[in-house]
Amino acid sequence: MPIHVEAEKGQVADIVLLPGNPERAKYMAEKFLDDPKLYTDYRKMYGYTGKFKGVDVSIQTTGMGVPSISIVLEELKMLGAKTLIRVGTCGALSDDMEEADLIIAQSTATIGTTINQMTPDITLAPPADFELIKNLYDSAIDLEMPVHVGQIATSDYFYGKSEEYTEELKKLASLGVLSVEMETAALYNIAAKYGLRAATVLTVSDHVFKKTRADKSKIAEGVDRMTEMVLDTVTK
Ligand code: HPA
Repeated sequence: MPIHVEAEKGQVADIVLLPGNPERAKYMAEKFLDDPKLYTDYRKMYGYTGKFKGVDVSIQTTGMGVPSISIVLEELKMLGAKTLIRVGTCGALSDDMEEADLIIAQSTATIGTTINQMTPDITLAPPADFELIKNLYDSAIDLEMPVHVGQIATSDYFYGKSEEYTEELKKLASLGVLSVEMETAALYNIAAKYGLRAATVLTVSDHVFKKTRADKSKIAEGVDRMTEMVLDTVTK
């Protein structure tokens, strides 16, 4: 049994959705899965397996940031997971995005995160799994959800509001980077390391330069719609 995700092989499904927040993982499992079974509650990083439209799916908490999600991903790999989809929130860097819009991350730039230690002499930018993001994009369009596809950035520093850091984010925005969050670099790099399928789908919770934040209920609604769309798509 891994050290943190306290499950045995066979308890985790091939398909795993990855919210950061444990309460959200619990809520998602109870709202969307039939017969959800809790397989780990170690450190309250809840993980559940149940069925969505007859297909086995797990929902596993990742915690916040690259170090936390990296531990969870390595252990999910040990437990046999194959398709990993992060469902989270992000701060928009682009002015033409609304709160609760959807972003599908084709790839991610990494700002000062520990994941760069995997290939210290090479700047890798592993992409999302093409088929996964194509299907997710098609579903979003079918459902008329406002969706943006492109490069995001992963940073370890949520409260990095120094002038230098803000300038760095502005530079990324000018290069077409859509938003910033804290986990996808680990997901795409670790998926590349093991040949797993990965994608990140995000709901815009705030605007970094405008310094505005959607209220909690609007964020929750956006995450709900996103979760249902992702579940529907990956279990088809
Ligand atoms: N920065 C980093 N991660 C985030 C943000 C942000 O502004 N919003 C949601 N996740």
